[in-house]
Amino acid sequence: MFMQKVIAIDGPSASGKGTVAARVAAALGRAYLDSGALYRLTALHAQQQGVEWTDEAAVAALAAELPAEFSGSRVWLAGADVSEQIRSENIGMGASAVAALPAVRAALLQRQRDFLGVAGLVADGRDMGAVVFPDAELKIFLTADARVRAERRAKQLHIPCTGIEFERILSDIEARDEADRRRAAAPLRQLPDARLLDTSHLSIDESVKQVLDWYRELSEPT
Ligand code: DC
Repeated sequence: MFMQKVIAIDGPSASGKGTVAARVAAALGRAYLDSGALYRLTALHAQQQGVEWTDEAAVAALAAELPAEFSGSRVWLAGADVSEQIRSENIGMGASAVAALPAVRAALLQRQRDFLGVAGLVADGRDMGAVVFPDAELKIFLTADARVRAERRAKQLHIPCTGIEFERILSDIEARDEADRRRAAAPLRQLPDARLLDTSHLSIDESVKQVLDWYRELSEPT
């Protein structure tokens, strides 16, 4: 059976899959694709160009010609470093909106596949295993309880894990999950051939180790 040299890690927002995927890529000397960043860049680009996030044809045209560059953990759009800007809640909402449009997903498909070079790839997103790399050698569905994910995000933002602000983060995460799960185009779900990695009670190191253990199992003779 043909297998692509790809570890596909899909899962909901704030699950820590980006951090885990980047660490696994570094450990294996592979390239890393943060596919969510492409949707975030598309949303930011549309906003800067005065294009509504709901205008499917216009957003898809921008996505097809996205003037984006990646280097390490930094991201540039039209020559400007937008690494922090694309992480805002507003652009997160925009990314979720443009990601629901099939023409936008189609416009970004080849661009994502182009990240696979000879060294192999670790890719994270929502549809890496289902659509972008269906022949990935290892598929993982990485998740954590919504409350645990909200706590991780709150810590990043230096917000206490109680109170109104925290409850808002939690409800935003739940709303985003719901939108990503319910949409018709590439909904978020665990594939039958994906392994479940629930990181609710795991540290980043333990999560990375589990992925590497699974990967090594694949290459061992049985
Ligand atoms: O992983 P993230 O939070 O950066 O993703 C931002 C949005 O993009 C999120 O709402 C889901 C969407 N997305 C997607 O639909 N498909 C992907 N492969 C990656 C992200």
